[in-house]
Amino acid sequence: MSTATTTATPLRARPAWRALEEHYEAIRTSHLRTLFADDPGRGERLVAEGAGLYLDYSKNGVTDETIALLVRLAEECGLAERTEAMFRGERINVSENRSVLHVALRMPKSESLVVDGVDVVAEVHDVLDRMAEFANRIRSGQWKGHTGKPIRNVINIGIGGSDLGPVMAYEALRHYSQRDLTFRFVSNVDSTDFAEATRDLAAEETLFIVSSKTFTTLETMTNARTAREWAIAVLGDESAIAKHFVAVSTNAEEVSKFGIDTDNMFGFWDWVGGRYSMDSAIGLSTMLAIGPEGFRELLAGFHEMDIHFRTTPHARNLPVLIGLLAIWYGDFFGAQTVGVMPYCQYLKRFPAYLQQLTMESNGKHVTLDGRMVDYQTGAVYWGEPGTNGQHSFYQLIHQGTELIPIDLIGFGRTLNPIRDHHDLLMSNVFAQAEALAFGKTEEQVRAEGTAEAVVPHRVFEGNRPSNVILAEKLTPHTLGALVALYEHSVFTQGTIWGIDSFDQWGVELGKALAQRIIPELESQAEPELHHDSSTNALIRRYRAMR
Ligand code: F6P
Repeated sequence: MSTATTTATPLRARPAWRALEEHYEAIRTSHLRTLFADDPGRGERLVAEGAGLYLDYSKNGVTDETIALLVRLAEECGLAERTEAMFRGERINVSENRSVLHVALRMPKSESLVVDGVDVVAEVHDVLDRMAEFANRIRSGQWKGHTGKPIRNVINIGIGGSDLGPVMAYEALRHYSQRDLTFRFVSNVDSTDFAEATRDLAAEETLFIVSSKTFTTLETMTNARTAREWAIAVLGDESAIAKHFVAVSTNAEEVSKFGIDTDNMFGFWDWVGGRYSMDSAIGLSTMLAIGPEGFRELLAGFHEMDIHFRTTPHARNLPVLIGLLAIWYGDFFGAQTVGVMPYCQYLKRFPAYLQQLTMESNGKHVTLDGRMVDYQTGAVYWGEPGTNGQHSFYQLIHQGTELIPIDLIGFGRTLNPIRDHHDLLMSNVFAQAEALAFGKTEEQVRAEGTAEAVVPHRVFEGNRPSNVILAEKLTPHTLGALVALYEHSVFTQGTIWGIDSFDQWGVELGKALAQRIIPELESQAEPELHHDSSTNALIRRYRAMR
């Protein structure tokens, strides 16, 4: 089946979809208490393993039949064919006419993948080698700043995919980082971000990595120009740029226009989407932090999950299962959001990273061939590290009126063993999943001697779904596998919905309108405004406050 024909039948007309609709009616009121009581083995059967990750999906409102039907849906939607098309470098990003080859970023040097006559794996490794050489020079102090001092501070300037991956990976892998280097990340065009990131740093010891796929993004270029002024103001002259600025981009022309020598530029390619780029040169700050060897381990983790995704039957395939469960809850139960709760402080930025990955990818309303969808696509992803979230919003997950499937992520061992913290932390992972699934009945509440008027308040209806994802320990390898897990689950969902998970036209309109408004805010004379009455009034009020 070709990729084109797989989108031809409307999703809701597919036999597996229809079967799932019927199945949903039969199963939607089944309680997890009953599903577990009737099938005591499900906790050991509804699990999957791959690339060092263990997934327990037994506490979801599914039976073996549900999974079989969802897998059939994936087959009918051509998931296997589309996966192969991606790995072969076909132009599956149709609206931008591009290949989607983040999987090539983590292929080992020994492999080759020829796309349009070019071995992309060889190109990837050329850049990785240059990054490694540069990283070693910075980390060893061999690279000297303008005044002859080694670099102590690294500031990544970027936004979206050129920021969220680097900052998430730095926080996640801080334990493995070279501790005498300081890393900061500036993304927001709000000058506060730059001011606070630089206020206590010496320019002569600071390196800026200007990360931007296009090198035209308003926020990043504004911050980069501010950084250049800041550095030159202290260091005296333009020649300092060569020692204190490097660029990561696909746009060599804009990089040299900015004044960065392309010798100090690390490239990548248009077939790497911004939100899929943390393992490209966009990960330069990550490599500076954890070293080239650590970065190689990270890539190996990604690659292991890629192989798992490409070769494991769908019914045992981690990203496919996670993707299918999201479809099950979104399209059949009408769930609007998915919570991702890492029980690991190092993963505090992981939910923010996932928000771009999932929502910029699957927040789409038309199919690949431009038809309006008549089903729900991308859910809202959100989350916070556990146990913090338990003391703020978990109330709503347990007793609110919304159905919120959540992923709980935990590790067998901590990187900071102190007293019994880790057992306390992990006991909460298991307890939350248990409480959500099984709840507490009225009888149980009464049996505790609860006053009658309070009984309804203390009942937990349960039957609230969760996945538990376990890994032995947070390492660069584990992080790579975890990110690739979600990347491919996004791909699985996008393939079933028949949408383009690799474009992002929805971010354009706001950018264009802001360009029109900037001169209206800055002009000396009162500008003539031609917006709607609300926008006109807001602009006038801002001008008066300014
Ligand atoms: O505006 C959205 C977006 O295009 C993202 O897709 C991208 O990750 C981000 O902006 C930054 O783009 P760039 O790396 O080109 O600066």
